[in-house]
Amino acid sequence: MATTVKGLEDIAGKEIEELGGCFIRLGSERVFFEGNIELIYKLNLRCRCLHKLILLLIEGKATSLKEIYNLAKSVDYNFLKNKKFAVRTTRVGSHNYNSCQISATIGQAILDSFSIEKPKVDLENPDIEIFSYVKDDEVNIGINTTGDSMHKRNYRVYDHPAALRTTIACGMIKISNWNFKEVFLDPMCGGGTIPIEAALMARNIPPGIFRKDFAFKRLSFFDENLYKNELEKALKESNSNFFSIYAFDISKKHIEGAILNSKSANVYDTINFSIRDATRKESYKGIDAKYIVLNPPYGIRQSRIKIIEKLYREFFNALKNSLSGATIVLITAAYKVLEKLDINYIEVRDVKHGDLPAKIYKINI
Ligand SMILES: C[S@@+](CC[C@H](N)C(=O)[O-])C[C@H]1O[C@@H](n2cnc3c(N)ncnc32)[C@H](O)[C@@H]1O
Repeated sequence: MATTVKGLEDIAGKEIEELGGCFIRLGSERVFFEGNIELIYKLNLRCRCLHKLILLLIEGKATSLKEIYNLAKSVDYNFLKNKKFAVRTTRVGSHNYNSCQISATIGQAILDSFSIEKPKVDLENPDIEIFSYVKDDEVNIGINTTGDSMHKRNYRVYDHPAALRTTIACGMIKISNWNFKEVFLDPMCGGGTIPIEAALMARNIPPGIFRKDFAFKRLSFFDENLYKNELEKALKESNSNFFSIYAFDISKKHIEGAILNSKSANVYDTINFSIRDATRKESYKGIDAKYIVLNPPYGIRQSRIKIIEKLYREFFNALKNSLSGATIVLITAAYKVLEKLDINYIEVRDVKHGDLPAKIYKINI
C-alpha cells in the first residue's frame, strides 16, 4: 500500500503501474497493489507522487479499539523478534479514539502475541515502524518501508513560508502533460518547488537520491546488492539535458531562495529564474510558454480576498494577451475567487494541501 495526496490517487496509481506494480486498486489517499521485493527499492527511489510505501500485513474493518486489537492480533509478528519497534497511525474520519490510542492498542496486540523474546517499544529510534492507517471503519496495518514521507525531498535549503508539497507539484506537472521539448513556466514560483520538480522529472532524476535514509534498510530481507542495482539503473536512466524551464516571482528574497534550492537539487543550470510581476504582459515577452503550472497565493485571511481576486484577474488578463493557447495547471484554496472569473476549465479536482481543502484546475487559456 502506498499513501499519497488526497485527490491524486489515480496519478500515483499510474506511476506505480509504470514502474511495475500490478493489480492496482485505488483508495482514499492510498493505492493498493502487488509487486516483487525489487519494487520496494524502485518505488522508494523513483516515485514522485507517493508519501510512504507500506508492506501491508493486514486490512480489515473495525469500529472500536477492541476490534482494532483483534485485527492486529491476528498477524504473525515473528519478524519483530528482538527488535525495537514503534507503531504510528494516520487517522481520518470521526472516531471515539485518537491516533495515539490506536497506536497503543496495536502495540499491545503485538506485545501480547509474543510469550518470550518480546520486541521492545522504542518510539524515538525503532528498527521497524509499524504503520496503521485508519479511515472511518477501514484499517490497514503494515511495515513502513520508507521512513519519513517521500514528499520531504531533502534538497530544500530555503523554506518558503507557503511552500507547496513536492508530491502535489509533481502531480500538477503530470496533469499538465508537459511535453519536455516545449517551454515550461511557473510565474509565481516562491521557493521554486514546481520548476525544480519539473527539472528533476525531465532529467529523470530519481527523487530518492536526496534522502539520507530509507526504513527498508533495517528490514531483515533487505538485500544491499538488489538495492544498489536499482539505484544504479535509476541513475543510468537519468540525463543532464537542458530544458526550457522558466520561473518568476515578484519577490527578490524568494527568487534568491529558489536559486539556492535549485542549486541544492543540482538543476539550477536548466532553470531560468527572474524577478517579474506575473500580472504584467511585458513579463512574458520572449517566453513562448506552452505549459504553465503554478501555486498562486490563496489569501486565506478574509481581508485579503479582494487583493487575491484582483491578482487572479490581472494574471489571467496578462496571460490571455501574451500566451493564448497555453495549458495552465493551477492549485488554489481560494477556488471561490477563481470560479468568479470567466475561465473555461478542462478539468477540476479536489485535493488536500496539507489539511487545507484545495482544487487543482486545468485550463486552456
Ligand atoms: C503560494 S506561494 C508559491 C510557493 C511555491 N509554490 C513554493 O513551493 O515555494 C505564491 C508566490 O506568489 C508570489 N507572487 C504574488 N504575487 C505575484 C505577482 N504579481 N507576480 C509574481 N509572483 C507573485 C509570492 O511572492 C509567493 O512567493
